[in-house]
Amino acid sequence: MRSEEFRAHGYEVIDWIANYMRDVETLPVAPRVKPGDIRRALPAAAPEEPETIAACLEDLSRSIVPGLMHWQSPNFFGYFPANSDPAAMLGDFLSSGLGVQGMLWSTSPACTELETHMLDWLAQLLDLPVTFRSPDGGGSRGGGVIQDTASSATLCAAISARERARGVAAGAQGDPLGRLVAYSSTQAHSSIEKALRIIGIPSDRLRTIEVDDQWAMRPSALRGAIEADRARGLIPCFCVAAVGTTSTLAVDPVESIGQICNEHGVWLHVDAAMAGIAAICPEFREMHRGLERADSYCVNPHKWLGAGFDCDAFYVANRAALVGALSILPEYLRNAATESGAVIDYRDWQVPLGRRFRALKLWLLFRANGARALREMVRTHVGFARSLADRMRTDPRFEVIEPQTLGLVCFRLRGGDAATESLLTAINESGRAFMTHTRLSSRYIARVSIGQRTTTAAHVDALWSLLSARA
Ligand SMILES: Cc1ncc(COP(=O)(O)O)c(C=O)c1O
Repeated sequence: MRSEEFRAHGYEVIDWIANYMRDVETLPVAPRVKPGDIRRALPAAAPEEPETIAACLEDLSRSIVPGLMHWQSPNFFGYFPANSDPAAMLGDFLSSGLGVQGMLWSTSPACTELETHMLDWLAQLLDLPVTFRSPDGGGSRGGGVIQDTASSATLCAAISARERARGVAAGAQGDPLGRLVAYSSTQAHSSIEKALRIIGIPSDRLRTIEVDDQWAMRPSALRGAIEADRARGLIPCFCVAAVGTTSTLAVDPVESIGQICNEHGVWLHVDAAMAGIAAICPEFREMHRGLERADSYCVNPHKWLGAGFDCDAFYVANRAALVGALSILPEYLRNAATESGAVIDYRDWQVPLGRRFRALKLWLLFRANGARALREMVRTHVGFARSLADRMRTDPRFEVIEPQTLGLVCFRLRGGDAATESLLTAINESGRAFMTHTRLSSRYIARVSIGQRTTTAAHVDALWSLLSARA
């Protein structure tokens, strides 16, 4: 493709996306396709001769779009949002356009330094403890890195915890790997169990700690489990506290959990994948109380904030444990900057070697929106969720699952599980909105997650009319 052609097709693609963003709310939110429908519409093999970009865009509209869930629809209330802010999207184009691979500082110094700086901006916006920041001059022991997902952040935290525990126990009764134990609440995300499996800690050595009536971990139960494991000769090494669980956005008490973990030398990772973003507003920062006791923390700007999938911000209070666990320096990667010790090589902060220039997404997102507008978005969504929950509370057919937190409303119909499930099915089949479900104490619960960037009061009103008419 010659430069002038690229320019013309670039405009076509931007036009296509702009039209999609304009019209997405008119599309059925969930796809209405059966397994195999999409593949059947595609040629069996790649073309031998070039085709036009216009033909590709036509096929995109005709064959691919009908097979999509429209995560960017303002009527998307499922799971948690995966917002693509237009400025972040442009940052992503720039990242593709530059095509740099930032595995080492030396392979693109600006890629590394912009990332370090953006994660400091985000840490400031969220008012995270200073231990997670990377000030100039490398004086800090901690710092942040962009991972693809919260799952990868948790995996990196777990590896660091495992290696730290091995280091502490070295020499005593051989390799302690078979005695390492981890903890999370019964409500924690499945990525924790997966991370532990990957690093050789089987599921039966993940203790799932009971929760209280707010769905938050009971610190006394955590303490009991750690003490019981120690008494059996096991080694408690890793604990994940959730700031915003996936089912209900329950907030584990980080302060008390942190005290227990610090006392027992257990690595505390705080998973704030969705809810953490709310801390850009001072009034929602209470959920982070005690965070200075944590060894690591992660939050997903690709969820609520709009950075576009994928972008998880992962912070460590002491980078030595992470880098020590993941750094291997083969001859072909040696370079003077690395050897000087004065630079960050982010390949040592993640599982893969190569890495994209994701910081551009954050840079454009922050600059083109400004922090005030981002705070405003969060506050608006929280306000919408509160007002929806209030409407449900005054309708005797609905039961809101308390506590209702931030932008999430969990509810059920008093008619029971089957009635709640058929309401959710009816809403989703209508194409006018999309919601998902969970189970709490084996009861079927519908979730309305309000956080899509373009959702307005009118969309929430329409959802309520739909729920109320079909309940
Ligand atoms: C609390 C929590 N942790 C982790 C995850 C996993 O996120 P990711 O897809 O970034 O791995 C989620 C996803 O919704 C989540 O809610």
